[in-house]
Amino acid sequence: MIYIAILGHGVVGSGVAELMRKNADPIARKAGIPVAVKHILDIRDFPSLPYSELFTKRFEDILEDGGVRIVVETIGGLNPAYDFVKRCLLADKSVVTSNKELVATHGDELLAIARERNLNFLFEASVGGGIPILRPLDQCLAANEVYEIAGILNGTTNFMLTKMIETGMSFDDALALAQQLGYAERDPSADVDGHDACRKICILASLAFGKHLYPNQVYTEGIRQLTPTDVKYASAIGRVIKLIGRACKREDGRLYAVVAPMLLPKDNLLAEVNDVFNGIMVRGDAIGDVVFYGRGAGKEPTASAVVADVIDEVKHLSARKYLFWEPGEEGYAIPHDDAESAMLVRVAAGDKQAVTAVFGQVAFIAGDRLPGDELAFVTPVLNEKELNGKLAALPVVSKWRLY
Ligand code: HSE
Repeated sequence: MIYIAILGHGVVGSGVAELMRKNADPIARKAGIPVAVKHILDIRDFPSLPYSELFTKRFEDILEDGGVRIVVETIGGLNPAYDFVKRCLLADKSVVTSNKELVATHGDELLAIARERNLNFLFEASVGGGIPILRPLDQCLAANEVYEIAGILNGTTNFMLTKMIETGMSFDDALALAQQLGYAERDPSADVDGHDACRKICILASLAFGKHLYPNQVYTEGIRQLTPTDVKYASAIGRVIKLIGRACKREDGRLYAVVAPMLLPKDNLLAEVNDVFNGIMVRGDAIGDVVFYGRGAGKEPTASAVVADVIDEVKHLSARKYLFWEPGEEGYAIPHDDAESAMLVRVAAGDKQAVTAVFGQVAFIAGDRLPGDELAFVTPVLNEKELNGKLAALPVVSKWRLY
């Protein structure tokens, strides 16, 4: 019998505890040995649960129990998760986590400790929930030079954008609906301001390119400013707006990394990813484009990925597994000012001459049900600094990057 412990009995942690009980037989078959939960750490009591005797409020009960070989961290956030995970690794316990903030911020350090001590630190559930992405990226695509990863990495905002696109709903109404359905938190900032997607693109890029990309190196914009009118303009030029996390490897070895609403061509594979679903596109020199699609959140899908990592760790208790990247460095991601893109720009009741004086000849966008007194156009591809310098001369209503 191999014993594990779970830190945090929230949505994901309870899903793990339940799945470990429900599927004990197939899990034992896959792992080659029975696996059982010995302790669950939570500050709350759960007296009515059939496994209520497993709960403890003392982290030390887990840390000091030499019988626990694997610890699952599903507390979320940095504190106390970072401290607990580090101490578990230093106490020679392998760790599985679903915590994207932890991995995006401290993954390099925790992977180094795990490597030094011949342990495993796995986190498949931290990106794309139940979608298998980190293992395929690390193993199945290992022969490729991956040069770009782009994804719809946040289900809540994708649900909201789908409602805004399909029904013309406002941001506020779409958020209220997402909250009503339990997708968005009462404080929706991590989702709607792009932080969740930022953490996920950091993990993907760190793994794909072998060096840690930290969240503060990624220019991050959310979807709060989007209006139904922006959605209509996107449609008028044959595009759809999606919140995209994107990391591209440049020839000089540095990365271009961004999280922002972007206008995708309607025939782009990610443009078809709707509702709460996630889609992650990996571009490699041998494979071309490959897309991973599925439910990126939720209790059971996320628990499914966590328990698969547990099984993997049980099978490799004395042999360290793959997954590794080096610490990052300042200057690894190019400054946002140097990033190049074209933008769809709306200007308030401007005259066309003012726009052409700044950008030269551009095609103005016309379409049904667009505000008649506005002008909208697509800029040439320029770096952000040049673009913003030019746009400062115009009465800009909104600007959105083209993918
Ligand atoms: N809030 C996240 C989402 C859940 O909506 O995708 C998993 O990170």
